[in-house]
Amino acid sequence: MKLVLHVWRQPHANAPGSFVTYQATDISPDMSFLEMLDVVNEGLVAAGDRPIAFDHDCREGICGSCGMMINGVAHGPVRATATCQLHMRSFRDGDEIRIEPWRAGAFPVVRDLVVNRAALDRIIAAGGFISVNTGSAPEANTLPVPKQEADDAMDAAACIGCGACIAACPNGSASLFTAAKVSHLGLLPHGQPERLRRAARMVAQMDSEGFGHCTLFGECQEACPKEISIDTISRMNGDFLRASMSRREEKLVGGTG
Ligand code: SF4
Ligand code: FES
Repeated sequence: MKLVLHVWRQPHANAPGSFVTYQATDISPDMSFLEMLDVVNEGLVAAGDRPIAFDHDCREGICGSCGMMINGVAHGPVRATATCQLHMRSFRDGDEIRIEPWRAGAFPVVRDLVVNRAALDRIIAAGGFISVNTGSAPEANTLPVPKQEADDAMDAAACIGCGACIAACPNGSASLFTAAKVSHLGLLPHGQPERLRRAARMVAQMDSEGFGHCTLFGECQEACPKEISIDTISRMNGDFLRASMSRREEKLVGGTG
């Protein structure tokens, strides 16, 4: 295959960026999108040019590092597929492809297609955990989990933290990501003691990071490579509301409200 790539090049966060056009030749339809970029980079290095910087790690749809906008779509044209799992057979010979980094205020560009997604780590650090004493593994059947709740928790836990939901959202909201992380713990019995506090803290951190608000466009779940449902956002909002109400009641009981 031969392709024409229009790639966003930006040397560092504070430098201006622009699209640069490259010819990608000798591309096999069986290559992944990242392998296609590897081929282009080999050519750039051989010519003494700076290779295109892009983030990647597992290359099997697990780590969430590889996101980029491909022809204006987060992770490209195939539904429920991370960029590393996208294959060149999804394109036609001679296609022009526009490749950009995630566009969101809370994801500053580091270089070319690489953005800083540390804001997501800080949301997790604010409450995405269960506080228990570690020790030997407990007997698996001591805490039964209803099948539906186990399934829903597993679905939410499939979030790989890629940030496609944020890049796809017209508001740049991190609600789907945060809701997935709130849900996968809040649905399980182990996550109940900190459930409301977790939602309150993670939402507060999300807001402080400069992400936009959710107005239920639904673009996030369309872009999500793990098909996380926006139902998780309703669940997070419910927990957040209950946390706010219980804080208000505590203030009233304490006579400070
Ligand atoms: S919710 Fe989906 S799109 Fe958003 S970070 Fe998680 S896996 Fe990526
Ligand atoms: S490189 Fe890990 S999800 Fe794509």
